[in-house]
Amino acid sequence: MTAPRSSGPALAVVGATGAVGSVLLQILSQRADVWGDIRLIASPRSAGRVLAVRGEETEVIALTEDAFDGFGKGDIVLFLTPAEVSARWAPVVTARGAVVVDQSAAFREDPEVPLVVPEVNGHAVRIRPRGIVAGPDCVTAAMIATLGALHAEYGLADLAVSSYQAASAAGRAGSEALRRQLSLVAGSTLGEQTGDVRRAVGEDTGPFAAPLALNVVPWSGELREGGWSSHELAVRAETRRILGLESLPIAVTCVQVPVVTGHSLTVRARFEREVDAGHAREILEAAPGVVLVDDPEAGEFPTPADAAGTDPAWVGRVRGSLDDSRSLEFFVCADNLRKGAALNATQISELIAGEFA
Ligand SMILES: NC(=O)c1ccc[n+]([C@@H]2O[C@H](COP(=O)([O-])OP(=O)(O)OC[C@H]3O[C@@H](n4cnc5c(N)ncnc54)[C@H](OP(=O)(O)O)[C@@H]3O)[C@@H](O)[C@H]2O)c1
Repeated sequence: MTAPRSSGPALAVVGATGAVGSVLLQILSQRADVWGDIRLIASPRSAGRVLAVRGEETEVIALTEDAFDGFGKGDIVLFLTPAEVSARWAPVVTARGAVVVDQSAAFREDPEVPLVVPEVNGHAVRIRPRGIVAGPDCVTAAMIATLGALHAEYGLADLAVSSYQAASAAGRAGSEALRRQLSLVAGSTLGEQTGDVRRAVGEDTGPFAAPLALNVVPWSGELREGGWSSHELAVRAETRRILGLESLPIAVTCVQVPVVTGHSLTVRARFEREVDAGHAREILEAAPGVVLVDDPEAGEFPTPADAAGTDPAWVGRVRGSLDDSRSLEFFVCADNLRKGAALNATQISELIAGEFA
């Protein structure tokens, strides 16, 4: 554990060893340092590991009650853990007076827990009756800044979204499964039949519902009524919540693609007012957290390979609908580990730290 080093609030990162946790430690080293003591916490499996944060070697400690000793009012604990771990331990932290920022699905639907993307509804962090603030799912996070900016101008009336989700959204297990499958496929002789991919990968498809290498898988989450997946319903509910549009019609289709990091989405948005694609581009260009790359003549549009490792949502292929003057089509990419999780959680934590400064 590191010694306290400044008068800033203490920060604990629970899940520091995970896919999101590792990126969060990089982000803490890159941004203005507003923190005092930084404590790294994970499961007992990782206790004793040493990780670098802010250029200091810091030992990981196991998640126990004692892990939060010294934490109280004005301090912040980030949960980058499975939902059941967040649900079990967040109340332990809030009982001590510290604020929880949770990146799991545990509290996203709780009306007493604000669901926050700072570029869109940063003001919401201040009202947190349970002492907990949640960040959204990585698919919601990838598109919400673009939608928030367009909604402010045109009034969002209807939304249809398809995701092209990276494997690391399923954590370390997801990216490891994709890498393993790609090496199995690369080492086998493939014909033109999908069955060859299934044979090469075998039964163990990791956290995915089918082989992901050289494939696309139109499924993530659990089955819900009507054939929807829990993930699709979550993106719908979260988008409505963050935009404050509780009855917005939204259709979501979640698809896993063989990309390690960087979610992509196609979005069809219908508005209350007529949309001009050129003006919409200007709005997107000026939107916080959004970068416009939209020059198809020059072959310029965003891809997840460009978005991975960067902070903003990259938007391109902005087109007015051919059939409906109130609709817009676009493509957006964002790093699921950064804006989809670690960066958003850091931004929320900085807003809260600012309250106590
Ligand atoms: N990956 C994304 O793109 C993404 C985006 C948005 C939200 N999220 C959410 O963020 C959370 C973390 O995701 P991830 O992708 O980083 O997952 P991950 O790679 O599987 O990492 C999970 C982290 O949680 C820790 N952990 C697991 N069980 C624990 C326990 N019983 N006690 C204490 N620590 C425990 C792990 O510690 P050990 O290493 O010691 O096992 C690890 O640090 C999840 O809720 C996920 O849904 C992820």
